Amino acid sequence: MITGNAEQANLLDPYTREPLRMEQGYFLNPVTNDRFYINGGIPVFLPENQMSGDNLKYSRFYDRISRFYRISSVLYCWLKGTTEQKVKKLYLDQLEINEGDRVLEVSIGSADNLLHLPRNAFYTGFDISFGMLTMARRQLKRWKIQADLFQGEAEHLPFADNSFDVVFHVGGINFFNDKQKALAEMIRVAKPGSKLLVVDETESMVVNTYQKNPFSRKLYQLADRDLSVPVHLLPGGMKETEVRYFFEQKIYCLTFRKPLGGQPEPDDRKHP
Ligand SMILES: C[S@@+](CC[C@H](N)C(=O)[O-])C[C@H]1O[C@@H](n2cnc3c(N)ncnc32)[C@H](O)[C@@H]1O
Repeated sequence: MITGNAEQANLLDPYTREPLRMEQGYFLNPVTNDRFYINGGIPVFLPENQMSGDNLKYSRFYDRISRFYRISSVLYCWLKGTTEQKVKKLYLDQLEINEGDRVLEVSIGSADNLLHLPRNAFYTGFDISFGMLTMARRQLKRWKIQADLFQGEAEHLPFADNSFDVVFHVGGINFFNDKQKALAEMIRVAKPGSKLLVVDETESMVVNTYQKNPFSRKLYQLADRDLSVPVHLLPGGMKETEVRYFFEQKIYCLTFRKPLGGQPEPDDRKHP
C-alpha cells in the first residue's frame, strides 16, 4: 500500500538507478520512459513474465502457498513444542530498532515478523511474490500496522543508497538466483553504521528435513546449491560479523554492520 511515506521514499529504477516520478497509477522513469505499475497499492518492479530461474520458481511457489503460509508456520512451531513468537524472538531480538527508524524487510512474505517488532518505527516490506504481499497487506490491516509494500527481486532494490536505519531478511536467501547481489543491495540501501541481519535455514535442515520430506522433496532437489552461511559473499570491510545458530541448529542468523565509511567497492569483495 502506498502511503505518504512511500511517495517520499526516493524510489529508483532498480535496473538503471534513475530516480522515479510518481504518476497516476504508476512510477515513471523519465529517462527511459519505463513504467512500474501500482497494483492494489503495491508498486510492481518485476512482473512474473520477466522473472527467471529459481526466482520464478519460488515466486510461483509462494504465490500458491500464500494463504497457508502463516498457519503452517504457527502449526510447525506448535508441533515442535514451541511458539512462533518464541522462535522469531530468537533472531528478531538481534535487530537494533529505535523510535522513528526506517526499517526494511527484504522478502517480507506475509509480514509475520512485523507483528513482533516495535510499533514506533516506519516499515517497508519488499518481496518477489505478489501473493505473499497480498497476504501481508491483509494481515497488516488486521493488525493495524502501517507499512509500505513493494514487489520485485532482492537482487534489484528500488531504493536509494543509504535509505534505511535497519535492513533485514528472513527465510528466502538460500534459493535466490544471486545471493551475493542481493546482499550487496541490502548493504547499499542501509545507512552507514547500521546493523544488518540475515536469517535462513541451515544446510543440515534443508538436506535432512526438506529434501527428505515427501511434500517438499521435489522443490528442494538442488544438488549443486551452496547452502552455507553466506559470510563469504559479503563485501570486504563489513564490521562485527557474527553467525549464531538457533532452534536446534535449524536456522542460522548472520549479523554484520555496514562501515561508517559508506559503500564498499566492488573490487573489495571477498570471493568464495
Ligand atoms: C520463507 S518466506 C519468509 C517470509 C518472511 N520473511 C518470514 O520470515 O515469515 C521466503 C520469502 O522470500 C521471498 N523470496 C524468494 N525469492 C525472492 C527474491 N529473489 N527476492 C525477494 N523475495 C524473494 C518469497 O516470496 C517468500 O515470501
